[in-house]
Amino acid sequence: MENLKTFIYLGVCVYARILSAADPNSKAENILWTSRDFKTTLHWTTKNPNQAYTIRLSEGENDWVNHPECFEMLDSVCDVSNELIPFDRSFTADIITEHGDQEHPDYSYDEFQHTVSTPFNPYKQSNISVLKFSVKAVNDSTVMVNITDTLTGVHRDGKLLTIRDIFKHDLRYKIRYHKAESTGQRDHISDRSLAEVTHLDPGQSYCFSVTAYIPSRPKSSQEGAWSDPLCAQTHGNSSNKLGPGALLGVILPIIALIFIIIITVAVVCCKKSQKGNRPVQTPQSSAPV
Ligand SMILES: *[C@@H]1O[C@H](CO)[C@@H](O)[C@H](O)[C@H]1NC(C)=O
Ligand SMILES: *[C@@H]1O[C@H](CO)[C@@H](O)[C@H](O)[C@H]1NC(C)=O
Ligand SMILES: *[C@@H]1O[C@H](CO)[C@@H](O)[C@H](O)[C@H]1NC(C)=O
Repeated sequence: MENLKTFIYLGVCVYARILSAADPNSKAENILWTSRDFKTTLHWTTKNPNQAYTIRLSEGENDWVNHPECFEMLDSVCDVSNELIPFDRSFTADIITEHGDQEHPDYSYDEFQHTVSTPFNPYKQSNISVLKFSVKAVNDSTVMVNITDTLTGVHRDGKLLTIRDIFKHDLRYKIRYHKAESTGQRDHISDRSLAEVTHLDPGQSYCFSVTAYIPSRPKSSQEGAWSDPLCAQTHGNSSNKLGPGALLGVILPIIALIFIIIITVAVVCCKKSQKGNRPVQTPQSSAPV
């Protein structure tokens, strides 16, 4: 009886293995690279949730290297941030559908199902997120913009690298600013994370947004995400309060007021003098009659 049970159990197992090995539905599908600040993950979909996958990576389409953290895993997502080095290479991933067959201890993978991804170059394609920064007015005409380089998803010597560590001299910052009450904006490109925006008007409030800018990249990925604006007021007094518009606005009413006063005074005086003259004038004017 026990022998029969074992026999049936083995038979079912072998049958299931043959099924899973031959099941085209168990193949990884819709492979997608997602990458933000060099934290790069591979996602895929699967019709068989109990399937194990192993990931191999290649710079190109040969020389496949196993990824130790994504070996015979049941997830359909794998973080490959620390494997895509050097950064400026085009990597391809091969997602292998395992069927746990002990007869293949050498893992030649030849008879497993493979799904090969599109190529991905983290240096050129990783999205760069919003940068943290602060602004501070230095004097009448200059605001200092202090940008913090974002940490990436890549570890080296027990620390996370910053985007500056990876891009080095290819990394610039684009600073976009405008006067608080106006829409006309200007761009300032800085090599350094501590940037000075000069030639501003005194006593004015300016608002600044920043982004990482990598001119060596293809046009579509040169800019990172733009930050929300931060504002700062330059030192000194706003000369705008005494500008031509403001001057006219203050002086015209004063001139008009003075004018009105002069006319009123003149009219009142004239009437008074006419009234005062009348008794004298009346006999004069009636004299010829
Ligand atoms: C980068 O961001 C864009 C817009 O959100 C997105 O469509 C794209 O898939 C992202 N690229 C990567 C590699 O994550
Ligand atoms: C304002 O500060 C900047 C940087 O410190 C300096 O280059 C500039 O000459 C200063 N301008 C004035 C008007 O003091
Ligand atoms: C710039 O910001 C960093 C991080 O917030 C800070 O440590 C540093 O002192 C700032 N530099 C200046 C010149 O304000």
